[in-house]
Amino acid sequence: MTAVSAVPLAEFEARLREVLRSKVEFIEVIGEDLVAAGGKRVRPAITYLASKALSGGEQHLFDTDLAVCVELLHSASLLHDDLIDDSDTRRGQETAFRKFGNVVSVMSGDFMLSRLLVLLAEMPPSLTRAFGLAASAVCEGEVLQFQVAAYADYSLDNYLQVIYGKTAAVFELAARAPALLRSAQGHLTEALETYGREYGLAFQMQDDLLDLMGDEATIGKPVGGDLREGKATLPVLYLLEGESGDEVRRILERRAAQTGDVERVRELVAAQGIYQRARDEIVRRAELAIAALHRLPPSPDRDRLEAYAAYEVQRVR
Ligand code: IPE
Ligand code: IPE
Ligand code: MG
Ligand code: MG
Repeated sequence: MTAVSAVPLAEFEARLREVLRSKVEFIEVIGEDLVAAGGKRVRPAITYLASKALSGGEQHLFDTDLAVCVELLHSASLLHDDLIDDSDTRRGQETAFRKFGNVVSVMSGDFMLSRLLVLLAEMPPSLTRAFGLAASAVCEGEVLQFQVAAYADYSLDNYLQVIYGKTAAVFELAARAPALLRSAQGHLTEALETYGREYGLAFQMQDDLLDLMGDEATIGKPVGGDLREGKATLPVLYLLEGESGDEVRRILERRAAQTGDVERVRELVAAQGIYQRARDEIVRRAELAIAALHRLPPSPDRDRLEAYAAYEVQRVR
């Protein structure tokens, strides 16, 4: 199953491209590169499906613009995130800041956020509020992550706050935005919110697990990037609680983990049953997402939303 299958692709991609148009060549090129490079389009797929799950299959006039807004927020956060993380590649291509420098990359991210506001201006004000809250949560997640590393203040609670902000807040938005657009009943809005939030937490946990334990050829980047930057993700937090805690803490605090350190942490995660513990937590979150969905009336679109969250648990890249 691919995420793209749920999105009326031609319409979505055409609108995304149109909204990203600029008279300034560098901005236009970044926008085009990003669209051309694709991406899984998971968040817009959630938006389309949630909308139809609420309406018995009918699309809303604003569904495409709403899905485009969600993807714009995500894309802007990727442009900024790659600069923050000093990443070489994104969606199989050289990152924008490597190609064009920091100014172009940051401003193109801001451009996307600004274009999103133009689309939202046509919609009910509850959506502007929801996008504002999600965008500020992304900023908080990124900065809290930095602060946690700066203070070496590693805890599960901090980790959950970081991944909620960076990722789950946008998934939550993707799922609840159609409910706001359609003024759905409170319990349906809340069900979609919970679905998006728990799915988003599972998604980032899986991303983090792959960053450490994935197969380099499959994930398309060197493993251990988070560890090298002093980021304690779920498996590393589990290790910190155990007998190898001091050793792992020293690696994290050096902030320059070498290949040997990454290998050592991978071994510890595998040997101490921590890989499985992290997997169990991801499955638990995906199940919470699916349980929340069951508060919506049964429909093919609800089934597809369920399949997305279930797929997350098997993702290898
Ligand atoms: C990447 O998200 C950022 C994270 C939250 C881990 P995706 O893996 O959905 O990125 P694209 O859109 O498919 O490139
Ligand atoms: C994704 O976090 C954060 C946002 C999209 C804001 P990561 O830094 O963990 O994601 P990747 O690994 O770069 O995709
Ligand atoms: Mg990153
Ligand atoms: Mg990051």
